[in-house]
This record gives sequence, C-alpha cells and structure tokens, in this order.
Amino acid sequence: MSSSRMTVLVVGATGSIGGLVVEEAVRQGHTVRALVRSPGKARRLPPGAQVVVGDVTRPETLAGAVDGVDAVVFTLGSDGAGRVGAETVDYGGVRNVLAALGSRQARLALMTSIGVTNRTGDYNRRTEACDWKRRSERLVRASGLPYTIVRPGWFDYNKPNEHRLVLRQGDERHAGDPSDGVIARRQIAEILVRSLTSPQAERKTFELVATAGAAQQDLEPLFAALDADPPGSLDAVHDTANMPLEEEPQRVRDDLDTVVQGRRSH
Ligand SMILES: NC(=O)c1ccc[n+]([C@@H]2O[C@H](COP(=O)([O-])OP(=O)(O)OC[C@H]3O[C@@H](n4cnc5c(N)ncnc54)[C@H](OP(=O)(O)O)[C@@H]3O)[C@@H](O)[C@H]2O)c1
Repeated sequence: MSSSRMTVLVVGATGSIGGLVVEEAVRQGHTVRALVRSPGKARRLPPGAQVVVGDVTRPETLAGAVDGVDAVVFTLGSDGAGRVGAETVDYGGVRNVLAALGSRQARLALMTSIGVTNRTGDYNRRTEACDWKRRSERLVRASGLPYTIVRPGWFDYNKPNEHRLVLRQGDERHAGDPSDGVIARRQIAEILVRSLTSPQAERKTFELVATAGAAQQDLEPLFAALDADPPGSLDAVHDTANMPLEEEPQRVRDDLDTVVQGRRSH
C-alpha cells in the first residue's frame, strides 16, 4: 500500500481543498478519480482526473467510485447545512464510502478540523459539526485500514511568509478563531496526498498549521516525529477523553459495530 503510484479516489473533489488534492495527486503521478455529485460539476475539476458521479448520502451511487481504488482522500464539507449536513455528509459520507469499500484494502486520508474535540464551543453547540467530524475520525480508526487524519487550521489565513509546517497533537487550541493556527489550502492538499505513500504517516492524527518560515521539502521527519494512535483506539493519541462511547447515540454505536465487524472479515 506504500507503492508510489496509486488509484486515488477524492471524495469532495469539487471543493476548495478537494480540487487542490486532485491537482496534487495528478502531479504526484497517481491515477485520480474524482467523485462529483453531478456531471456538470466536473467542469470545475483540474485536468487529468477521471470523473465518477455519486452522492455520499446515497450509498447505492458509490459502488463504481470505489471499484479498484488503492486510496481514498476525504475532504467533504457540509458548511451551511447545519446539524443534518454534519451528520449526513461529514459523518455519513465517510460511513457510506467505508461501507462501499467493504473488504477492499485501501489507504485512507481524512481531513477534519483543528478544534474537532471542542464540544462546548459556540460553533459545535450550534452545528454539532465538530462532534460529527470526530465521529467520522472514529469510523476511520475503527475500520482497521491504514489511515492518516489531518486536522487543518484556518484555511489561507497564513501570511505570505507563513509556510513552515507544524504538526501538533492533542487538539488543545480551542479559541475557535485563526489564533488556533493557520495553513495554506495548497499545503493541506499536499500533506493529504503525501501521507498516502508514507508508512511514517500511518495511524497518525495531527493538527496542521504553519508558522513563519519556508515549507519543509521532506515531510518524512515531520510524520515520523508524531505519536501513532494506540491500536484499537477510537480517539487520537493525546486527545481529551470527552466523548464517552456509552453516551453516544445508538445509531453511532451501531455504525461503529458495523465497521468493526467489516474489519474482522477483512
Ligand atoms: N475554512 C476553514 O478555515 C476550515 C478549517 C479547518 C477545517 N475546515 C473544514 O473543511 C471543510 C470545508 O472544506 P472545503 O473548503 O474544501 O469545502 P467545500 O469547498 O465546501 O467542498 C465540500 C466538498 O464536499 C462535497 N459534498 C458535499 N456534499 C456532498 C454529497 N452529498 N456527496 C458528495 N460530495 C459532497 C462538495 O461537493 P459540491 O461541489 O457538489 O457541493 C465539495 O466537493 C468544512 O467541513 C470545514 O469544517 C475548514
């Protein structure tokens, strides 16, 4: 799975990060498959990608998308769609694509967000977006598939000289504004795609921000310096344990059981 050329499915390919992921994956020599909700949206894609039509909230549309893939990058976003969007797209989309993968082996890269463990902030109280994104992280960890989870800071709030990557763990910055950390969209895309072929990035979850300085050329030492998530753990290493499984909605626990059972049959 660490081969340098993969068939990579991008879920969220027409988005502000997904489009850059498509471009970056093509640039790195991968065969890229872009999931789009309607053929008309394919016009927004950078050249060089295969287009596959599907909607992550409609599981029956996803079989063709996952056929023959080596890797999946998730950059879904349901911003503006409130709690329902957070559950059905940010979380449900990951659940449905994992279900479509079935027993296939695939390398995963999931983008969530800095502050994803902040349950008491205004944003999460209003939208539950952090909670649902965190639940999507849990599904990915429970899948037993090799993964990297990237929690970016505020997109493109970096100053022109802020490209030095800092990978943090523990998700301790909860201001809910760019003081938590900033990062260029293009660097998020690069990290997501690079993680797919890096054994050092496997089972790693991190917040991604940038500070003053030039971008590092070699990402391997950055990935290598991180602690891996404990095997079998639902949460990232160093995360605050503020989402007890026994208090989770029954449907979420059922989804986790389904994913774990799928892993046993791998
Ligand atoms: N802005 C920030 O500073 C920041 C920082 C950290 C994390 N984030 C998180 O990043 C995410 C936004 O990323 P972005 O800017 O790339 O988002 P975006 O531009 O809104 O893109 C979202 C992608 O998800 C796709 N999508 C939505 N519903 C779908 C469905 N039912 N089936 C298939 N695809 C679907 C969209 O497709 P369509 O084109 O068809 O709509 C689009 O490709 C948000 O969730 C946000 O919480 C943002």
